[in-house]
Amino acid sequence: MTTGPATQIDTLLAETRLFDPPAEFAAAAHISSLDEYRKLYDRSINDRDAFWSEVASELTWFKQWDGVFQRDGHRFRWFDGGATNLSFNCVDRHLSSGTRNKAALIWEGEDGEQRVLRYHDLYREVCRFANGLKSLGVGAGDRVGIYMPLVPELAIAMLACARIGAVHSVVFGGFSAEAVRDRMVDAQARVVVTADGGLRRGGVVALKANVDSAVEAADCVEKVVVFKRLGNEVAWDDSRDIWWHDLVADQPLDCPPADVAAEDPLFILYTSGTTGKPKGVLHTTGGYMVGCYLSTKLIFDLKDQDTFWCTADIGWVTGHSYVVYGPLLNGATSVMFEGALNWPEPDRIWAVAERYAVSILYTAPTAIRSFIRSGNQWPEKHDLGSLRLLGTVGEPINPEAWIWYHEVIGGGRCPIVDTWWQTETGSIMISPLPGATPTKPGSATLPFFGCEPDVVDSDGSSVAPGAGGFLVMKNPPPSMARTLYGDEERYQLEYWSRYQEQGWYFAGDGARRDEDGYYWVLGRVDDVINVSGHRLGTMEVESALVSHPTVAEAAVVGRPDDLKGTAIVAFVTLKAGQQPGDEAAATLREQVVKEIGALARPDEIRFADALPKTRSGKIMRRLLRDIAQGSTTTGDTTTLEDLSVLATLRGDEEE
Ligand code: PRX
Repeated sequence: MTTGPATQIDTLLAETRLFDPPAEFAAAAHISSLDEYRKLYDRSINDRDAFWSEVASELTWFKQWDGVFQRDGHRFRWFDGGATNLSFNCVDRHLSSGTRNKAALIWEGEDGEQRVLRYHDLYREVCRFANGLKSLGVGAGDRVGIYMPLVPELAIAMLACARIGAVHSVVFGGFSAEAVRDRMVDAQARVVVTADGGLRRGGVVALKANVDSAVEAADCVEKVVVFKRLGNEVAWDDSRDIWWHDLVADQPLDCPPADVAAEDPLFILYTSGTTGKPKGVLHTTGGYMVGCYLSTKLIFDLKDQDTFWCTADIGWVTGHSYVVYGPLLNGATSVMFEGALNWPEPDRIWAVAERYAVSILYTAPTAIRSFIRSGNQWPEKHDLGSLRLLGTVGEPINPEAWIWYHEVIGGGRCPIVDTWWQTETGSIMISPLPGATPTKPGSATLPFFGCEPDVVDSDGSSVAPGAGGFLVMKNPPPSMARTLYGDEERYQLEYWSRYQEQGWYFAGDGARRDEDGYYWVLGRVDDVINVSGHRLGTMEVESALVSHPTVAEAAVVGRPDDLKGTAIVAFVTLKAGQQPGDEAAATLREQVVKEIGALARPDEIRFADALPKTRSGKIMRRLLRDIAQGSTTTGDTTTLEDLSVLATLRGDEEE
């Protein structure tokens, strides 16, 4: 099996440092000792129904559930028979206390504009937009596409959908028109919410123009709601487009929350898999709500006085769960920042953290590595004394980056929570509890409540401490995805078929567990790569490449990269008569950007007369990975190599 970059594994294997939670932090924490964690953890597994019942009861339900957890193979239900409303729990629930006038969202635009929405403001805006959606004919179960910059209206649109029982599908603003179209068509979205533009590194992201071209080929879309973020010129279709401000202008300030069944869908979020077609991961209401609520509260040790900043874009699951739902369910103040963390200067992130006195910062290892590269003078310009807890997510963190984060950003006083989870798991599954768990740089440490991971071999036997294996989950916790939208078969196949007999969820990651039971997640074991903390299917990039008329065949693999975690290397065979070279490589890079988005742009394109294949015709990716890793070429250099020779040297090796 492949377990990610070899150098990464070696460093992780050698790591022996242990950091105890600072005594003062532990004393004030929700969970204060390893003992307390272990007792509660045992209860969450062995007295599962009582444990989750108590947690769920901290939130508001309109109707009590009949059963806490039921399972039949890979089909399962949480809080079945219960009815609630996620928007009510995120907003209305806080209106009867002092939280009413607390900041719910603190927003900063890339251009420095600032807005603060108190819980009561948020309530009104959510209600007005929910009424607006209703006036467009959107009802329970209808899908609403959201393709917006990181502005408060993005959160408002999500909460408005949840309020009326509609299903949102947020598409990351960096995705291309083609990617938006595919997702809208797959979800059969009736309405798309977008903006006239967003700001990114000083430039305007043409969101509306992308939506225009996307919906041309998406007949399902009846209306496009456009939030005026910049006031720039956009093309307009009177029969289809409506300004956000016009839609909400005369709407009532109240909108009763719909009774939403616990197992009713809440959102679809597309993510990459091992085929060219992204998967629409479907989350339901009750379990997701409870999982987000508890994980935010305990893993981030959230207190009333905290200011929480998760730097992820809401287009990814991290933004769904830890910019919007988790913090708001807890009545916390969540910071939203529109732009790039290192623009216009490398200290933008530290300036924002200082400005709003952020106390909990949650970001990605790839970002941390880029801050290290920029130099300590940037964070040193700022007073980061308000920070008390740091978090990471998205990929394994190399111990060197962990130590830098701990010392330079956390001043040695802030615990770090390295949180492992996935789009499919909805909320964090493996993580330290900051007041309880001694941490080891590079390890996500121990399972969160209700999670039963294991590291097993291909037969399903637990591997010995220290040995590598596949990461599985023995029982689905409340926030686990229920299906892939419109493709139950693929859901069963991708996640539940490998250990069907045992009934385990297969996460697609390789991991090892050490003598202390700590988990070290090593990376993907399938044809999915992790680029700058974002998941990409190599097949998706291959499909984008072969959709270009000059390309005969393409194979894409990952190569370890100091900054991005994994760089994208594409091996391409052109059709007869086509000229390889820098120009062709540039064209093909743009092709991928057009089909998917800039995040998938290949770092390197190598032309070959033929790709190495087994006799049965399967591309030998392992060989290509070796070649890509052994590469001495960098950046844009394009090389020609005769891979067909290599191919004939190898036998019928299967991956
Ligand atoms: O490979 C794991 C990696 O990211 C994958 C999930 O990607 P996605 O669904 O896009 O969600 C990312 C944010 C939740 C996982 O299968 N991953 C995520 N967190 C970690 C990680 N790898 C190691 N350590 C982590 N803390």
